[in-house]
Amino acid sequence: MPPLLHPEPGKDGVRRFELSMQAGRTQILAGKQTPTWGFNGTFLGPTLRAGRGDKVQMAVRNQLPEVSTVHWHGMRLPARMDGGPHQPIEPGTVWTPHWTIDQPAATSWYHPHPHGTTAQHVYRGLAGMFILDDDHDLDLPADYGVNDFPLILQDKKFAADGSFDGDPLKGTFGILGDHILVNGTYNPHLTVTTERVRFRVLNGSNARMYNLAFADKRRFHVIANDGGLLSTPVEVETFSLTPGERAEIIVAFAPGEQVVLRTTDNGVDIGKGDFDLLKLIAADDLKPAPDVPARLVPLAPISAPAGAKVRRFRLSGHDAINGKEMDMARIDEVVPAGAIEIWEIENNVYSHNFHIHEVAFQVLETGGSAPPAYATGYKDTVYVPSKSVVRLAVQFGGFTDPASPYMYHCHILRHEDSGMMGQFVIVKPGTESQVNLTIPTHT
Ligand code: C2O
Ligand code: CU
Ligand code: CU
Repeated sequence: MPPLLHPEPGKDGVRRFELSMQAGRTQILAGKQTPTWGFNGTFLGPTLRAGRGDKVQMAVRNQLPEVSTVHWHGMRLPARMDGGPHQPIEPGTVWTPHWTIDQPAATSWYHPHPHGTTAQHVYRGLAGMFILDDDHDLDLPADYGVNDFPLILQDKKFAADGSFDGDPLKGTFGILGDHILVNGTYNPHLTVTTERVRFRVLNGSNARMYNLAFADKRRFHVIANDGGLLSTPVEVETFSLTPGERAEIIVAFAPGEQVVLRTTDNGVDIGKGDFDLLKLIAADDLKPAPDVPARLVPLAPISAPAGAKVRRFRLSGHDAINGKEMDMARIDEVVPAGAIEIWEIENNVYSHNFHIHEVAFQVLETGGSAPPAYATGYKDTVYVPSKSVVRLAVQFGGFTDPASPYMYHCHILRHEDSGMMGQFVIVKPGTESQVNLTIPTHT
């Protein structure tokens, strides 16, 4: 279980988090030492926790031998705090972004985002969960490590000496591993002690899609997407997550039983293979837990006004959007603050997905159909199946900065690093035409 970091606020009301990016060795396979990278340890990072209204300040120290960045995936914040490729942290230096959390309770995460080396840095182990709370009073399991567990899913390949194998920048998708780790652990098991348990599932893999279900096909409830809780729980037998996506689920257990969480081959290029992920063992005595609430949060639909701006993005090959590779000096899109727009993502080749920084969106349509009910909440990352168009209603925030861009990209890291990424700025409405579309590569 990743340790929880929830610092008390200082006299000035600011919660200060310290993260140090470091290299080390981790025993993942029995009797082998794997060279790994981590935050505040050798592999992965602590779970950060903060609440709506909190002022937070991060001190991110880079003790690695190369430049990196740390991006707060899912966080709504000013572009200069976002930790994308324009906020490099040189080795031996500390980066100190700060912002006020102002978004609904959600399961977010953090990971490096240096252009061209994100796939390698994440593959080596730099990733962690970032839990956001708010004051909606709901009877949901929320006791970290007791009835509320992170599940960070990542697939790896191992060489005979125990080191990570495979080149995350080779082939169509980079890494599609044959060993699936949960919170950095291979072949894990977890004893649960309550009748109902909440799992916050993060697909932190470079490319793999998971199609999650229990071996006994038990049904369970999806209660949240990337950007927060759904309006009502959705009962399912299975659900899918592509890289970068999160979901929260609630699962019921009977005393003394065992069940395995699995991913099953769905025939999709990035979802191949059947794997056992986590064995769950229910204690003989389970503490009672309240029913899953029938209603969760009043979720205001993101609805684009008539005549809303429509932007189209065509994903081609593994390295371009609208025929262009990522250029850190080029602003691709200029969006007025607070806009709701329709973004259409078209994919004529193999699987991709699409992530937009800073925003919340809802999926209107995927391949001509409505999204599955469990994926109708606020999201920031979405699967874009081969030969399909995905339509999104996107709500942009209000932090304006014409010179500091946010990213949108495929979250298959091999694609992101190869150039399937673009940059947008958010500006004061009415000033769109004044934006300088060429910027310095560091802002
Ligand atoms: Cu998870 Cu642009 O990132
Ligand atoms: Cu992001
Ligand atoms: Cu892609």
